[in-house]
Amino acid sequence: MPRSPLELKRHHEQLGDDLGWFESLYQERQNDADIPWMNFAPHPLLVEFVEQNLSAFKGTRVLMVGCGLGDDAEFVAKQGATVTAFDISETAIARCHTRFPDSLVTYESANLLELPEHYANAFDWVIEIRTIQSMPKHLWQAGFKGIVSAVKPNVGQAVSICNGRIAQESEGVLPLPLLESELHDGYTQAGGKIVSIAEHFMNDRRLFLTQATKPKTPL
Ligand SMILES: C[S@@+](CC[C@H](N)C(=O)[O-])C[C@H]1O[C@@H](n2cnc3c(N)ncnc32)[C@H](O)[C@@H]1O
Repeated sequence: MPRSPLELKRHHEQLGDDLGWFESLYQERQNDADIPWMNFAPHPLLVEFVEQNLSAFKGTRVLMVGCGLGDDAEFVAKQGATVTAFDISETAIARCHTRFPDSLVTYESANLLELPEHYANAFDWVIEIRTIQSMPKHLWQAGFKGIVSAVKPNVGQAVSICNGRIAQESEGVLPLPLLESELHDGYTQAGGKIVSIAEHFMNDRRLFLTQATKPKTPL
């Protein structure tokens, strides 16, 4: 019986390793269907967003943050973008290679909080789906900084899709839904400029889709 995400998270936190539980979870759950965030399909809000901006994706460089088992990255690559996708879990990345042997996506194992130098300022789109909200709060700002660091100044854009909440709603345990103000302040303090934070509802769940640019000159 695999341990629950919360059990794994607490176990690794006690060892002083806030993010190690992701790798353990992928290792303990060899069946893709047992990964709690697995849908075997790209996120519906991502599909809608990309389809609405199709011409702006074709021929561009896209970075998928915390790509999990790869469905979002594969979808974006099929729309004509050149996609690099990374995850902190080496097991997740190995499984992307197995699931999509003929993929055009470059899959890499990397930590959003310590990105490789060649990601800096390199991407037209940096897309993060449910990764910030899966990290402990004290790492969020470093996460936003990592996302913004990879965006091409002036022309690029960061896109985040996450569970959201309003102040009256519970902070939750795992995942941790974000307030609109946390997204706004997170991106702004990381050197981004908010374009929009759009609220959506799916299955009675509040979601935020955030778009942010990176001005060349520091704010
Ligand atoms: C909740 S899952 C979401 C996966 C995928 N984005 C999705 O929406 O289906 C969070 C993913 O982010 C990865 N992750 C968490 N922290 C990370 C970090 N600091 N750097 C890179 N990947 C990270 C985890 O391994 C996991 O695959």
